[in-house]
Amino acid sequence: MKIYDGGKILLGLIVFVGLAAFPFLYNAGKAAAKPDPKTDTPVIQEMAEKKCVEPKEFMRAGHMQMLNNWRDSVVRDGMRVYVSNTGSRHDMSLQNTCMNCHSNKKKFCDECHNYMAVKPYCWDCHIAPKEKES
Ligand code: HEC
Ligand code: HEC
Ligand code: HEC
Repeated sequence: MKIYDGGKILLGLIVFVGLAAFPFLYNAGKAAAKPDPKTDTPVIQEMAEKKCVEPKEFMRAGHMQMLNNWRDSVVRDGMRVYVSNTGSRHDMSLQNTCMNCHSNKKKFCDECHNYMAVKPYCWDCHIAPKEKES
């Protein structure tokens, strides 16, 4: 019985290294296309001051937590009004508030989420805005 077969081991190694490198190469290709979320929706275009519920940096880092808090607030406590740091008031609704301004889910939410490979399951129940395929 032959225990050592250099040729097979080498071939095995090449295949292994190829498979191990694949996700990195694949992601490197994707990383080239930086996410570019668009905020040029009809509702936002009408705004005098183009601002989110809270400052942009806060939203970028904290929108998941904010949505969680909103849901808990509405579902558990029946509280529906969010008062921002600047005192502006917002109905705590994913569909009626966030998606009213960000009606371009594909070019906004999905733009980042696809890049980060996160797939919020919210749209199983909540209605995503209707948009034209482009
Ligand atoms: C009144 C309209 C309006 C509402 C309501 C609104 N947004 Fe925004 N949002 C904006 C605008 C305008 C910007 C861009 C702000 C800027 O450039 O300073 C923005 C920015 C953001 C950003 C940062 C994008 C980036 O490029 O970094 C995120 C994330 C975001 N919004 C998520 C949400 C979520 C989630 C909700 C609901 C909880 C929401 N927004 C509600 C108008 C809105
Ligand atoms: C600037 C990029 C960006 C934009 C724009 C953005 N998101 Fe996100 N979102 C992220 C990132 C990054 C995560 C993952 C964060 C993490 O895992 O800590 C995330 C996570 C989430 C989560 C939690 C998902 C989970 O499974 O944990 C929800 C809910 C969510 N986003 C909703 C929205 C909605 C709704 C919009 C559009 C109104 C939106 N996001 C726009 C970057 C973005
Ligand atoms: C299994 C179905 C289901 C899923 C999945 C789901 N929700 Fe909800 N959500 C509901 C229901 C039902 C309510 C209660 C509606 C009401 O009382 O107005 C609600 C309420 C909310 C509210 C407050 C009211 C409103 O109109 O928006 C927010 C915010 C919210 N959900 C966010 C989210 C987010 C963010 C996700 C994904 C991370 C998510 N939900 C996933 C069913 C769901």
